[in-house]
Formats: sequence, structure tokens, C-alpha cells
Amino acid sequence: MSEERRKAIGTILEAGFQMESDAFKTLMEMSSTGQLDPLVREVLRVAGTVEPRPASISRDLVLRAAEHLDLSGKIVETDHSGLGHGRRFAEDLESRLEVVSDPTGKLGTTGSFDDFLRYFRSRFDKMSLLFRQRMDTRNAGTISDALSGGSNGRGRFICMVLDKRERGDRIFLTVDDYEDEATVLVGRQNSTLYEMARKIVRDQVIYIQARKSAGPLLVAESIILPEIPDRKPAHANEEIYAALVSDVHVGSKVFLEDEFRRVLSWLKGDIGTPNQRDVAERVKYVLIGGDLVDGIGVYPRQEVDLAVPDIYEQYRLAAKFVSEIPEYMDVVLIPGNHDAVRQALPQPAIPRNFAGPVYDSRKITSLGDPSEVRLHGVHFLLYHGTSLMDILSGVPGLDYQRPVEVMEYQLRARHLSPEYGKMTPIGPEQEDFLVVERVPDVFTSGHIHVSGAGVYRGTTLVNSGAWQGQTDYQKRMGLVPKPGILPVVNLKTLDVKMINFQ
Ligand SMILES: [Fe+2]
Ligand SMILES: [Fe+2]
Repeated sequence: MSEERRKAIGTILEAGFQMESDAFKTLMEMSSTGQLDPLVREVLRVAGTVEPRPASISRDLVLRAAEHLDLSGKIVETDHSGLGHGRRFAEDLESRLEVVSDPTGKLGTTGSFDDFLRYFRSRFDKMSLLFRQRMDTRNAGTISDALSGGSNGRGRFICMVLDKRERGDRIFLTVDDYEDEATVLVGRQNSTLYEMARKIVRDQVIYIQARKSAGPLLVAESIILPEIPDRKPAHANEEIYAALVSDVHVGSKVFLEDEFRRVLSWLKGDIGTPNQRDVAERVKYVLIGGDLVDGIGVYPRQEVDLAVPDIYEQYRLAAKFVSEIPEYMDVVLIPGNHDAVRQALPQPAIPRNFAGPVYDSRKITSLGDPSEVRLHGVHFLLYHGTSLMDILSGVPGLDYQRPVEVMEYQLRARHLSPEYGKMTPIGPEQEDFLVVERVPDVFTSGHIHVSGAGVYRGTTLVNSGAWQGQTDYQKRMGLVPKPGILPVVNLKTLDVKMINFQ
């Protein structure tokens, strides 16, 4: 027994209490959270409030104390399965799931020059519309106005960034609109503007106010991103939850099967503290954000990381897990880059010839990536997150261990993959489905295997982490995942609880 544990037991005995054996066991289980000391203090405080004073510390008392401290939301593995469950809150609540948008069935590009042209026009038009709807950018002119001196030598216009070059302390943006092309200089004098320009990537659509300089050069005075407005999000009237699962990677050697089984047990009400079980009882929606299976041939030498090298078998195994989600919950599934469906974004729903067993295992709403749904009135933007690594590598100041900031970047750019064609394949569809046209109340992603949650201008941002440990590939790439944590969104308050199943 570690010194810390011995001290903890000593403190309890010195205070004049015995310890029941299962209380001891639970206390030891929780000591791994590194908060044994505060927990022991809380146990003694709670014991002191009980009348008549108990002779020994029970397991229940330890759990109550742990709940007061809210010990990192760690799941408590107590088996309640023998208790027999009554009807559960979410079971009697009618589901309110509406699909707002889904690219499935709307895709088909030949990759011709005309398709690319149409795709970028769609992006430019959709983004222009966002600027035209804003008070401060609605009277944008054109690049041509700005080049011909505009009014008082100034012009304002909406443009797409064709190229960005940094030379010493100057940034040159080559931009265009439907008629013209121009070079816009951003100097270091205005440091806010300069920092903003550093974060702009190719193919982004922005609004610029610029002064005409000598020759064809424009000097930027301000840059405005499409942004999302600050507002109050919609919410459900009942306290009801959506659990966000993604990146399960069934078939991988390091799929965290035990942890994932605990998630299913928790959903069924079999494990958890009383508080955690209260939440489970109110889970009505389970959203699976892609990479349900590990797939095959997704990255070089993936075979060494696979426990199940057969894609059909991977989906059969996944189906067994999915079938265990209580029947009254609504399950929404979108694909990720490891799933068996076209890789270019937007991805349609995973076809039946691969995921058939999953679809036959229970009722599932299977959509493409990205998609939007409304759950009890709350608008969700569901995106696997395939482009997150591209954004991370192209924008200074971002870090994959802080996924929420990357998602905030996407909302400000009003685009899920602002820079076209880095590591993220994008299909040049007639319409750009990756523009964030409607402002979501909740925006979810996965893919980088690091969970996180935050709020940006009223929108709750959640990255749902992963259920896969570190693969050899990630080790080679120096990526450290943070798996085994389940974000659960309260649709009444939009608060996110992180439940640790590790
Ligand atoms: Fe993944
Ligand atoms: Fe992924």
C-alpha cells in the first residue's frame, strides 16, 4: 500500500471510525484520481453530519463524499444490474429528432474543371450572402472599386484568398472576386490586424477594407471574418441529454473495449454514482461522430495496428456494441475517414453493403458528414473533423491538445475546411456543403482523439475524443490521444459533463 493510502486509512481510524470492506475498496479505487486527501477529509465531514454518528464508514458514504467533490467525473463501477430498473425518465419521453441537412444522395462530381469552378463559386456565393446579411459588411463593393480608388481612396470588398506570402514583417494576400484580382498588403504597424492576417489561409472568404497604394497594390486597414453572431442558443425544456461518442475504432489492436463496454453499462443504468445514473436515465440521444471502425488501408502500414483485418468483420463487431444501446434512445451515425465510404468530404452515409449489420442491430439514423440535426429543438452541427489536422498545421497558435480552439476557428471562418486540398480530400460538388450556413447551438467533432468542450458566442463546442489508445502510427507521429472520456450534453442548459471511463 502506498504511503498516501496508509495515511488516509490512518486518518479515518484516528477520527474514531471503522471502515467497511467495500467502502475501503471504493476509496482505493478513487485514490487513482490523485485526490485521496480531499476525499478523506470530505468523508469525515459527511460522517460528522450523520445522526446518530455511525461507528463505521460505509461505501455509500464514500460515494456521497466523492459526489460532493465531483471527482473528475470518473465513472464508479458499481454493479446495479441486479436491482431491477423501473422505467427511466428518457424512456417515457417522445423523441424529437429532425434532420436539418444531410449530403447523402446529393453528391456526384466528375472532378472536371467546370466542377471545380462551380464548387468555388458556391463557396464564394454562400459566404458573400453571410456578409451581405451583416450590418457592418452589407454594403461591400468590389475589388475593382478599390483598385480604382473607391471613395476617398478606400474600398471595401468581399474576396477569396488565392495565396498568402509572408515576407519579413509583411503579409501579401492575393485575392479575387468574380471580376478582379489584387494584392493586399498587411503591415506590422497594426499588430491586431497583422496577427489576424497570419491566421488567414488560402481559399478563405473574407471582407477587406483597403486603401489604394501605388500601382495595383492595396493596403489593408481592416479584415473581417464571416464570424457567427453572439446570441442565446436554443434549449430543450426538459433536462435531457445527448451522449457524444466518436472514434470507437472497432477492430484496432488498441480499441478500448473494456472502457467502451462500461459506457454501454452506464447507458443501461448498471454502473455509476447515483448522480451519474440520474444522468444516464435522461440520455435520449447517442451521437456517433465517425470512425466507428478502424477500417483498412487508411494510413501506411495500418495492418500492424489491426486486431481485425477484415472490414466486414469490423462492422459486425461494431453492430454488437451498437445493439446494446437501450432501445428507447435515438442513435445518429455519421462516417469518419476510417469508415468504409468515399473519403472526400462531404461523405455520404456509410453504405449498407459494409455497415449492414449495424443498421440491422437497432434503429439508426445514418447521415453523411457533415450533417445537421435538431434534438429537442437544439440545433447540432455534426462533423467528424477530418480537416482539423490541416487547420492545425496551417494556422499559427493552435494545438491539437486544445481542439475547441480549432473548432472556434472553423466557426469564425464559417467553413469546416477553409483551405482546399491539403491532407483533407474535398469533392468539388455543385454546392459547398462545408460552409457553415446556419449557426448551430452545438457543434461536435471528433477525429483528433482529444476530448474537450467550450462555448463560443453562444455555441457549445465539443470534441468527443476517442475509444482507442495510442496506435504505433500515432506514436511515430508524436500524437498523444486522450481517450476514454464521454462528453454528455445537457440539452436544457447546454452544459457538457465529461464522464471518465478510464
Ligand atoms: Fe479516429
Ligand atoms: Fe478520424
